[in-house]
Amino acid sequence: MAITPASRLDKIPPYLFAEISAIKRKAIAEGRDIIDLGIGDPDQPTPEPIIEALAQAAHNPSTHRYDETNAGWVEFLEAAAAWMHKRFGVQLDAASETMLLIGSKEGLAHLAWAYINPGDVSLCPDPAYTVYKVNTLMAGGEVILMPLREENGFLPDFSAIPAETAKAAKLLWLNYPNNPTGAVASLEFYQKAVDFARENNLLLVNDAAYADVYYDTPPPSALEVPGAKEVVIELHSLSKMYNMTGWRIGFAAGCPEAIATLNRMKANLDSKQFPAVSLAAAHALLHVDNRPTLELYRKRRDILCQGLNSLGWQVRTPEAAIYVWARVPQGYTSASFARLLLQEADVNVIPGSGYGECGEGFVRMSLTVMGDKNGERIEEAVQRIGRAINK
Ligand SMILES: Cc1ncc(COP(=O)(O)O)c(C=O)c1O
Repeated sequence: MAITPASRLDKIPPYLFAEISAIKRKAIAEGRDIIDLGIGDPDQPTPEPIIEALAQAAHNPSTHRYDETNAGWVEFLEAAAAWMHKRFGVQLDAASETMLLIGSKEGLAHLAWAYINPGDVSLCPDPAYTVYKVNTLMAGGEVILMPLREENGFLPDFSAIPAETAKAAKLLWLNYPNNPTGAVASLEFYQKAVDFARENNLLLVNDAAYADVYYDTPPPSALEVPGAKEVVIELHSLSKMYNMTGWRIGFAAGCPEAIATLNRMKANLDSKQFPAVSLAAAHALLHVDNRPTLELYRKRRDILCQGLNSLGWQVRTPEAAIYVWARVPQGYTSASFARLLLQEADVNVIPGSGYGECGEGFVRMSLTVMGDKNGERIEEAVQRIGRAINK
């Protein structure tokens, strides 16, 4: 076809996992038993009460039509505001300070499109979920990377950002609990981030997709900082929290001007979510506790971290999210080590370099292992890794 796609598509960086994906596909086609620690997609089913709530809502014909509300099905937004209050003590006006998203990825992407003009700058963490950077670039903006280093607890060092860069920027992207490092931000850190955003006239976009996926201490929300609503929009997701990745539902909360701006954009892009999904999601937020899944992840996490450490690694045990971020042994790059594990151990992991330059030297291992009932697949993975590196 002679019609060329828009040049913005050329801004999408090349797919870094192409080689590893090809090796994985070939191994599976050969019938090898691959233990996949790659994708971060809950392997457990959505809790039954949520499926029940969906079935009931789907039988109600009023859910079969467009959601013609302003910012999302009212019961869902009210449940989101109630959950934010119960979980973080954050008081929100559901009508003006929350909005429905078709998953948090959708909201993150469209926030970049709603705010970034050609030449505008956004501050993005490195390593990071790629959506912040790619959408800034596609909108014609520039990305200034904030390295997340182990010695700083994988938090950005705002004092290292030159004053004129900070002043020139428009958006500050953060993500805690963090993918891929598993790091958690404290309320003190959020206070610093809010101050930095205020001083530099930035909109702080906090991606909190893993806020409720934690093991012991509940991670805070950036909106707990007094006055944060003036500069913070925070995105939450039901995907990982309730094993609902396929359902596509989340919400944004906080700064009413940012909510209204994103809503203006989205009103011209989509027609919200199937109302029955919104009602089932409201039921989840109000009534469902997903502790059984988290306890299974905890078991897998401990087997993986203790197992790798017994092989001589020094792996940090994450307090939240579903990822173990491990430094590769000396002599390997992220990609060469991932290749070794796939070829010699039939274990799939993600090279850290895929999340940015500062991810080089690490691999990400996800705790969402298909077919693992009680940690036995993870245990098998550790044994295979041990054999492969000691060959
Ligand atoms: C950091 C982070 N943010 C957002 C998302 C998107 O989640 P969803 O669009 O399913 O809400 C993911 C998915 O893996 C993620 O890792």
